[in-house]
Amino acid sequence: MLFSSEKALQRINSELLLLEFGNRPAELYEPLYYIFSLGGKRLRPLLTLMACQLYEENFEKSLKPALAIEVFHNFSLIHDDIMDQANVRRGKPTVHTKWDIPTAILSGDVALVEAYKLIMEVDENLKTKAFSLFSKTAKEVCEGQQLDMLFEKRQQVSVAEYMEMIRLKTAVLLGFSLQIGALVGGASEEEASKLRSFGENIGLAFQVKDDFLDAYGQASKIGKTIGGDIVANKKTYLYTKAMELADDKTAKELGAIFENQKLAVDDKVKTVMAIYDQLQIEKETKILMEELYVRAVKNLSGLSPGIMKIAKLKAFADELMGREH
Ligand code: IPE
Ligand code: IPE
Ligand code: MG
Ligand code: MG
Ligand code: MG
Repeated sequence: MLFSSEKALQRINSELLLLEFGNRPAELYEPLYYIFSLGGKRLRPLLTLMACQLYEENFEKSLKPALAIEVFHNFSLIHDDIMDQANVRRGKPTVHTKWDIPTAILSGDVALVEAYKLIMEVDENLKTKAFSLFSKTAKEVCEGQQLDMLFEKRQQVSVAEYMEMIRLKTAVLLGFSLQIGALVGGASEEEASKLRSFGENIGLAFQVKDDFLDAYGQASKIGKTIGGDIVANKKTYLYTKAMELADDKTAKELGAIFENQKLAVDDKVKTVMAIYDQLQIEKETKILMEELYVRAVKNLSGLSPGIMKIAKLKAFADELMGREH
């Protein structure tokens, strides 16, 4: 298993199974039961429970926001797979492949509504705060996703622009997961913000690794199609860093391959991977991940929970960095 917090994971999974989204029309709700049945790392709700447990041994109070976040995450995946034209997720057909695009749009929409219902079940004293933070985060995810799509059409995207795009589409949700968990557990605003920053930094590293695995991972482990980002013209860290490091000739070549609609998919992936290899992108990616990890861990210093509790969170970040799926 990837993550060590077994008890929390079991609880999250059993709570997810108990969620009742609705029954009729079946085409609206079945995709939701389907996507949750496929599993997933449950990383975000785990972070919420762990942040809560830093301040309060019993994680019960953090369950509803944790579920809200996982439901929101799955909503974003259903829509993301339409945008990215991805056919496989968690080793199984994506919702729009198994059903169709209109069905995936609508079942995604209903998941977002359910996520809001769940976040509003947070403790009374945190309702307003949770609602406004959740809404801000959700809008940022949409902003990041729009940038991600806009970048598909551009040849030049700087590493800085890429970092801002992934901060929005991925990192802020990890940040929120920790922040709300900490607040529910009774942390001060200041401590919850520090944990949010920790989450955002591991979120950046997490997306960089996601990009890396899309090119260098194993399909059987990541449950997605390898090379999907290259096929979809995604401006990943691999691409933006390659463009930064390449000489003029190679940069032109890489840009042209990405834009070439006529190239067979396999050839496109192979040629791009050869350029990434030549520029030692694998090594570069690992360097960036390490930097982000160090930055993340700095956010943990000076927090009030004891060193043992903080060490658990750090160990979790370690596991994330080493993941193969
Ligand atoms: C995939 O998230 C989308 C990204 C933000 C990279 P996860 O890798 O957490 O997906 P699951 O939930 O484990 O399937
Ligand atoms: C997805 O990023 C981010 C969100 C779902 C908001 P990706 O498009 O890279 O995620 P995967 O690789 O499909 O899981
Ligand atoms: Mg995708
Ligand atoms: Mg995407
Ligand atoms: Mg990806």
